[in-house]
Amino acid sequence: MESSPVILLSIAYRGKQNIMTVSCHLSMDFSPMVGCMLGPWDTSYHTLLKTKECVLSIPGADLLKTAVAIGNCSGSEVDKFAKFGLTPYPAAKVKAPLIGECLKNLECKLVKKITVQGNELFVLQGVAAWHNPQRKDQRTFHARGDGHFIVDGKTHNLRRRMTSWQDCI
Ligand SMILES: Cc1cc2nc3c(=O)[nH]c(=O)nc-3n(C[C@H](O)[C@H](O)[C@H](O)COP(=O)(O)O)c2cc1C
Repeated sequence: MESSPVILLSIAYRGKQNIMTVSCHLSMDFSPMVGCMLGPWDTSYHTLLKTKECVLSIPGADLLKTAVAIGNCSGSEVDKFAKFGLTPYPAAKVKAPLIGECLKNLECKLVKKITVQGNELFVLQGVAAWHNPQRKDQRTFHARGDGHFIVDGKTHNLRRRMTSWQDCI
């Protein structure tokens, strides 16, 4: 089971934009630094190595089927922004596009690629973050790992109990 929400990773290279779906990722710190496991079967893997920058976007529950479709086709064959009716917006600090329909977008620079038992962990440093406050429904979705997905349920606000972590919330 992958506990973090399924995200989209967008890149741009020589004027061509692309998106892939990523469920194997982790928060590494609150700066924020994020690790993503990408495979060489992804066109985006090779583009990210060339450009060393990308955008990580968090899709809402309304984009569940779209995210699965994005992760089942290749940017070498289709223009995924056009095919899935997504809107690319210019980012502030990277050439990769923000995705207008997503809840949040994080512009990232590649810090390091680490090989972990044959798998490639891309360590990404967030350099600018965007949030769409107009979206009332902020639910995300999580991959169970077997083709099943869990959509967020009730949100519990425990901010007052986070006494040791005031700087993080
Ligand atoms: C739900 C879901 C989660 C995925 N998670 C990952 C992942 O964590 N790492 C990865 O390399 N590929 C993952 N994939 C596969 C890529 O999204 C897929 O290979 C995609 O088509 C690559 O697109 P590209 O070739 O245009 O870059 C996932 C696919 C789906 C549907």
